[in-house]
Amino acid sequence: MTLVVGLNGSPRRNGNSARLLDEALRAAQGEGASVSRFDLAFMNVSPCKACEDCFVDGECIIQDDMDRLYEALEEADAVIVASPIYFSGMSSYAKMAVDRCQVLWARRKVLKVDRKPGTGAMVLTAAQPDAKFDNAVSELRAFLIGIGIAPGEVLKVAGADGPSFAADHLDVLAKARDLGANLVSSISGP
Ligand SMILES: Cc1cc2nc3c(=O)[nH]c(=O)nc-3n(C[C@H](O)[C@H](O)[C@H](O)COP(=O)(O)O)c2cc1C
Repeated sequence: MTLVVGLNGSPRRNGNSARLLDEALRAAQGEGASVSRFDLAFMNVSPCKACEDCFVDGECIIQDDMDRLYEALEEADAVIVASPIYFSGMSSYAKMAVDRCQVLWARRKVLKVDRKPGTGAMVLTAAQPDAKFDNAVSELRAFLIGIGIAPGEVLKVAGADGPSFAADHLDVLAKARDLGANLVSSISGP
């Protein structure tokens, strides 16, 4: 069964990123996928220490909630990263987890341990109508490629001022559902 893993980088449990991620995951489920959501802001995740121990054995010396995220990301057929835009980048919660995925990068690039093919997608929300998404897109692309996942669709939602913006905009919810459904059908094929 196709496994879709969703990462929520917002500290708002029911904010825009969370709601859109849920919508995408539900649509993925509707296409037959099994899904799991990780709320990074509510997990015990320490920053990367840059010790490079993972270059030796592909394991992290820090033992925290990243252990279960590593496992899920390695098993995932698809990964959706949802984050609010903070100062024109991804949130610190998202960045903390991304940096800790140096372990998965090390497995791919240093230890040459491949993973099965995977597809990624992003859902980014920002309050300003002219918000800048480029930094977050560029960093999250590097993240996905680095852990062995091909980056795919990006849903950028500008003008999302207030936590219930997404919930109040049916067109935006529909785009998130399309993203989730497309992700699964792109993996399963016609
Ligand atoms: C620390 C912080 C920094 C922010 N920086 C930006 C920004 O640079 N550009 C922008 O358009 N919105 C910015 N915002 C607004 C959020 O991106 C926006 O409200 C988003 O929809 C929140 O998503 P959420 O409900 O998933 O948390 C910022 C919000 C916070 C708390």
